[in-house]
Amino acid sequence: MIAIIGGSGLTHLSNLDVTRREVVRTPYGEPSGALQFGHVCDQQTVFIARHGYGHTIPPHKVNYRANIWALKQAGAQAIISVASVGGIPEHMGPGVILIPDQIIDYTWGREATYFDGGETPVVHVDFTEPYDAALRQQILKAARGSGEEVLDGGTYAATQGPRLESAGEITRLERDGAHVVGMTGMPEAVLARELEVPYAAILVVANHAAGRGKSEHSIQMSEIEATLKVAMGRVRNILQHFCATCV
Ligand code: HPA
Repeated sequence: MIAIIGGSGLTHLSNLDVTRREVVRTPYGEPSGALQFGHVCDQQTVFIARHGYGHTIPPHKVNYRANIWALKQAGAQAIISVASVGGIPEHMGPGVILIPDQIIDYTWGREATYFDGGETPVVHVDFTEPYDAALRQQILKAARGSGEEVLDGGTYAATQGPRLESAGEITRLERDGAHVVGMTGMPEAVLARELEVPYAAILVVANHAAGRGKSEHSIQMSEIEATLKVAMGRVRNILQHFCATCV
């Protein structure tokens, strides 16, 4: 079964025929909302909206541990995260879709591990390649099959939010090697790694990051919504191809 975590702009999957909704409790509390089970192109799929179905949970309050735990318990063999980001270099403008291959974590104060003391011996998971390499390739193949153009690779900077960044902060992230910036990529990715569920992301650039391109003086939220609406349709297309072709 494939799990899909939907972010801003993707609170439901229109190509998922929902057959069952399940409210799950975990040792870490409640996930962002009910798990939605169904099929995309005959492929068993489970979907959860990261920010809740009413988009009320801010990035720093998402119960990432409960979400990933619930998906694993439900039988997820792979997790595809969909999220919107700000693009830092000129060519990563609104509407660009990328499959990142690296992460830098700037978040703080989040419950970022399952190895939090107690009975379980600590495991220091390998995180050299934070996104599952094979799953990335499968997504890239599905994107090619769907005819949707995506960028292969890029470094995701995970910031705390919920505010957007200052232009100075974006300059620092760029100096650090980041290409895109978002608020939810961590600890989601590492929690999936700790539970040994392959995890990869499809990122949609919603806006130029602060101080860049059209966002030189401010980021216009109205334009973000319009961009996401179109781009998430393309993401659904990629997911449909992914589900149709994966075994
Ligand atoms: N910064 C952080 N997160 C985001 C942005 C951004 O510019 N756009 C969409 N999510």
